[in-house]
Amino acid sequence: HEAEPLKVMIAGAPASGKGTQCELISKKYGLTHIATGDLLRAEVAAGTEYGKKAKEYMDQGKLVPDEVVVTMVTQKLAQSHAKKKGWLLDGYPRSLSQAEALQALGIKPSIFILLEVPEDILIDRVVGRRIDPITGKIYHLTYSPPKTPEIASRLIQRSDDTVDRAKLRLQMHAKNMEPVLSVYKDFIKKVDGDADKDAVFAEIIKILEDPEIFLPGVNAVV
Ligand code: AP5
Repeated sequence: HEAEPLKVMIAGAPASGKGTQCELISKKYGLTHIATGDLLRAEVAAGTEYGKKAKEYMDQGKLVPDEVVVTMVTQKLAQSHAKKKGWLLDGYPRSLSQAEALQALGIKPSIFILLEVPEDILIDRVVGRRIDPITGKIYHLTYSPPKTPEIASRLIQRSDDTVDRAKLRLQMHAKNMEPVLSVYKDFIKKVDGDADKDAVFAEIIKILEDPEIFLPGVNAVV
């Protein structure tokens, strides 16, 4: 009897720490990390048709149309590593129509992690966030500073990481996520994201290794 792979969805407001936790989770459990924000930024950087279309929306803090994101995600989920070893969906689904597109394909998570962080802290995280364009690693000038001057000198800021745009993204998030949370209500585990990143990760490990949830290699029942 083939073990069912772990399938994780992670959600939370902008800058709640999804990307930071996904880096740790995918490394520990070998899951395919699918982050729609990262996929879209890669399309924008490459100047593709998808990228040109996406940029207009991203700069306004709005959701990119489904015709761009749904195909992107579905293709990634269909790849054999994701199917066999499991996946980690970061920032998707982010609207009712995206959740319905997954349901139509029979795709559901083993667990849905919801990171909770107060709004004033989110703004502080957005403003100090920096990205390493070479490794894609996420830093924060105060909470997670780069370790070498070489890395520090090449860090960039995301174009949507201003206070005004972050506030717009927060409003959009609240409005769009409500119906998504009701679709996944039976799978949701809330995690306090207002703690240091290792403490948040420790909470997530506890949830993923809960014997109630099937995790191959850790608590496999054959
Ligand atoms: P996306 O890139 O997904 O942005 P987001 O949801 O706004 O989330 P962020 O990436 O801002 O934050 P995060 O939760 O990953 O936090 P991070 O770990 O970086 O999407 C961008 C845009 O793309 C959207 O606005 C939309 O236009 C489009 N898009 C994406 N998905 C879409 C979809 N499904 N449909 C349609 N459009 C879509 O952490 C933030 C900062 O805090 C960092 O500096 C980090 O170092 C720091 N930090 C993290 N954890 C901690 C901690 N515990 N303590 C202190 N600091 C911390």
